[in-house]
Amino acid sequence: QGLCFLAPLLSGEGCSLVLKPSRVVVGFGESVTVSCEATRPVRVLGWESAISAVHTQEDQSVQWKVDSLIDWIEEPICYGVFFTAPRQCEEKLNLVLYKTPDSISIRQANHSGPMVEGKEYQLLCEVQNIAPVQYLTLRWYRGQTEVYQHSFSDLTSSSPVQVSSTLVITPAIAENDAEYKCVAELELGPEGPQPPPSLASEPLAVSKPKNSGAEITLNCTATGNPAPVYSWQSPHLIEERMKAEAVITSSSLLPGRYTCTASNTLEKKSKQFIIKEQIKGRGKMYEWLIFVLFFFVFSLRCKLDHLCR
Ligand SMILES: *[C@@H]1O[C@H](CO)[C@@H](O)[C@H](O)[C@H]1NC(C)=O
Ligand SMILES: *[C@@H]1O[C@H](CO)[C@@H](O)[C@H](O)[C@H]1NC(C)=O
Repeated sequence: QGLCFLAPLLSGEGCSLVLKPSRVVVGFGESVTVSCEATRPVRVLGWESAISAVHTQEDQSVQWKVDSLIDWIEEPICYGVFFTAPRQCEEKLNLVLYKTPDSISIRQANHSGPMVEGKEYQLLCEVQNIAPVQYLTLRWYRGQTEVYQHSFSDLTSSSPVQVSSTLVITPAIAENDAEYKCVAELELGPEGPQPPPSLASEPLAVSKPKNSGAEITLNCTATGNPAPVYSWQSPHLIEERMKAEAVITSSSLLPGRYTCTASNTLEKKSKQFIIKEQIKGRGKMYEWLIFVLFFFVFSLRCKLDHLCR
C-alpha cells in the first residue's frame, strides 16, 4: 500500500530533530562531522546531501561526515520519519564552506607615473577565488590607518568568486609619500576561526605629487587710479584666498591657462599665463614652465581727473 505524505514538512521548533552543532564553518578541504538527533522515537533518520548521504532505521542519531569537503554543495538536510504525528520533519544544516583568496593585489587603475596634485586617481584591489563572498570585508589602509572598508554582504554566492574594490584618492603636495594596501578578511562568525582568516596585498607606494618644488609666481600687478581690483580664471581650482589677489604664489598650480583681469571703473585689461609641464631627460623630474602669452603693462590711469578725487 503506497503512502503519500501530503502534509508540509515541519521544520524548526516543532521538528523533533537537533543538529549538533547547528552551524558549522569548514575550511576548504577540511573534515566535518555533524550529528542529527531525534528527541522522540523515530522510524527513519537520515541526511539528504549531494555528498555522504546516509540514513538509519530506528536509530536516534545519525552522522553526516565528510573527510575532506571540497564541493560547493547545497546545505545538507537531516530528515526524520516518525511513528507518531507529525510523521515527518526536517532540519537544514547551516553550513559555511569557506576558502581564503588565492591572491590579493593592488594597483593604480587608470594611471601610471607621477601623480598631479588635486586630481583624482583610482586604486584597484582585486581578490581572486574567495568564498563565501558575503562574509568578506575588504579593508583599505594608508600606512597603518584604515581609510575605507568595503563589505560584500549584499552578494550571495557559496562558490568562489573574484571581486574588486576601488579607492579614489586625491594626492596633495602637503602629504607625505604613502603606502596603500588592502586586506581581505573573512568574518565567519563565532563558529569560524578566530581571529578571522585574512590576507593582505603587497603595499603599493604612492609618491606625493611631484613638481620642481619651486614656487610659481603669477604677477598681475597693475597700476591705476582708482586702484584696480583683480580676478582670476582657470580651468583648475584656485584657492579662495588668492582669487582676488594681484599676485598668485603657489607650489601646487596645475598646468593650464590662467587669466587675470585687472579692472577699475574706467578700464579692464587681461593677462594670460600658461603653465606647462616639462619632462626633463629620461627621469621622472617634472618642472614647471611659465609662459606669459600676452604681457600688458597695465596702466589704468584715471582719464578724467576730477571724477577720481
Ligand atoms: C581616474 O578615474 C577617475 C574616476 O573615474 C577620474 O575622475 C580620474 O580623472 C581618472 N584619472 C586619470 C588620470 O585618468
Ligand atoms: C609684481 O610686479 C610689479 C610690477 O612689475 C612689481 O612692482 C612687484 O614687486 C611684483 N610683485 C612680486 C611679488 O613679484
